[in-house]
Amino acid sequence: MVELELQRKRWQRIAADAVVLFAREEELPELRERLQREIPAAVAALDSGDFTGAAKKVVLAYTNGAIAAPRVLLVGVGSGEKLELETLRRAAAVAAKRAGGMKLSHLLIPVTTSPVLQSEEWLTAVLEGAVLSQYRFDKYITQPPENNGLVRRITVAVESAEQQRRWQPVVDFVRTLCEGVFLTRDLANAPPNEIYPETLAERARAAGKEAGFRVRVLSKAQIERLGMGGLLGVNRGSARPPVFIIMEYWGTERSVAPIVLVGKGITFDTGGISLKPAAGMSEMKSDMHGAASVIGTLYVAARLRLPINLVGLVPATENMPSGSAMVPGDILRFLNGKTAEIDNTDAEGRLILADALAYAERYSPQAVIDLATLTGACVVALGNVASGLFGNHRELLERIKRAAERTHEYVWELPLYEEYAELIKSDVADVKNSGGRNAGAITAALFLKHFIGDYPWAHLDIAGTAIAPKETDYMPKGGTGVGVRLLVELLRNWEPLPPQDAAKS
Ligand code: BES
Ligand code: MN
Ligand code: ZN
Repeated sequence: MVELELQRKRWQRIAADAVVLFAREEELPELRERLQREIPAAVAALDSGDFTGAAKKVVLAYTNGAIAAPRVLLVGVGSGEKLELETLRRAAAVAAKRAGGMKLSHLLIPVTTSPVLQSEEWLTAVLEGAVLSQYRFDKYITQPPENNGLVRRITVAVESAEQQRRWQPVVDFVRTLCEGVFLTRDLANAPPNEIYPETLAERARAAGKEAGFRVRVLSKAQIERLGMGGLLGVNRGSARPPVFIIMEYWGTERSVAPIVLVGKGITFDTGGISLKPAAGMSEMKSDMHGAASVIGTLYVAARLRLPINLVGLVPATENMPSGSAMVPGDILRFLNGKTAEIDNTDAEGRLILADALAYAERYSPQAVIDLATLTGACVVALGNVASGLFGNHRELLERIKRAAERTHEYVWELPLYEEYAELIKSDVADVKNSGGRNAGAITAALFLKHFIGDYPWAHLDIAGTAIAPKETDYMPKGGTGVGVRLLVELLRNWEPLPPQDAAKS
């Protein structure tokens, strides 16, 4: 990852490849004055009319020896009363990419001289955008170009000890957060012959060791003894055994009930006997993005020493067709004793989540949040912009929505009206695993609702937001890392939830 550092030194003396100055349209006169004083050669960038301050406008100018850095990148962040955090992320991302493209590997961001970077959350957004844009999954490319067009180092410059006390925590936070997002992206992008249940568990173990959380991995025999019929049913067609990964971070007294995160860990989804079409099937290597987001979030929460107790549960298996695979018509029995008729073996995510949601009850959790690339129907409804949000606890859902607005990891709530339950009624079991095409994201969530315990619950269908069809400002094509920033934002400010009769919502 980009090396992110803070230096207490006059920014004019730091010999980076370019100094990056952010400005709004209204601030051009002020910027001109400042440049006139400190980097006179760069004034031409304004007087020529090239730099307007419009959002994502980036103009390169030379400093002609006025400061140690030979170049300055002027970056526009638009106009208007309220400066949106997302505008800053995107502008910083565009600037960092432009710099990378010009093989500028060291960028300098002077904080205290910028009229824009005046609050912790603004600098957070700028650094997030810059760092997150500098991601590439290229470990399998045998001869990556010498300088791969990535920025290697970003230096935030401050000038006093007092300023350092204020801005150092911001730099440290963003570094840890982005490492978590990169970990999640790497796991999601890794090919299915690298990441399968056992290796996913190894990665969780390594993350736990580095960040400081406990990891236990239940073997197939243990999963059998527990009676996780959903996880075992989906696993039946696979040559690789399933795992159930349990991650525990105890950041406060043990008596405080934990928040439990559950992540769908289908390391490859062929659809099983209800086989998917060949076109685009390789995307289904990322069908464990929910699991990856949970691992990434645990990693960040533990590294930040958040004062909460947090548990991550990941049921993991491939979904394969074979002579031993589960078939339509099978009836599975889950950890909580309920049964489901298999209508479509491609609706496998809900089957493994069912066991994990039932298992979560053992923790008497404050709240349970699951993340899953669950339905194509959610992609049809919300595209690649917002995740589907469902749940049974008003305050929990509202908190997630607020965190989503702030992080721009958008969510949109969909209803769990009982009328939809009709679609997944079975004649022969407690519930059916597919309700057909209509309201597919909702029926999937209603299926999950059968298996939750007596706890506040939220479900995020990230099928559309986890896998980006093309690169955008700070999102690479492929695994996006969605969920990590959202959950960290939620958990960072966590307060006990007010009671709510779960039945009411
Ligand atoms: N993993 C898929 C959902 C998915 C689709 C994720 C596209 C990301 C992008 C899931 O297991 C699935 O196959 N769902 C089926 C359910 C149906 C059979 C009821 C679907 O959405 O088609
Ligand atoms: Mn499927
Ligand atoms: Zn799936």
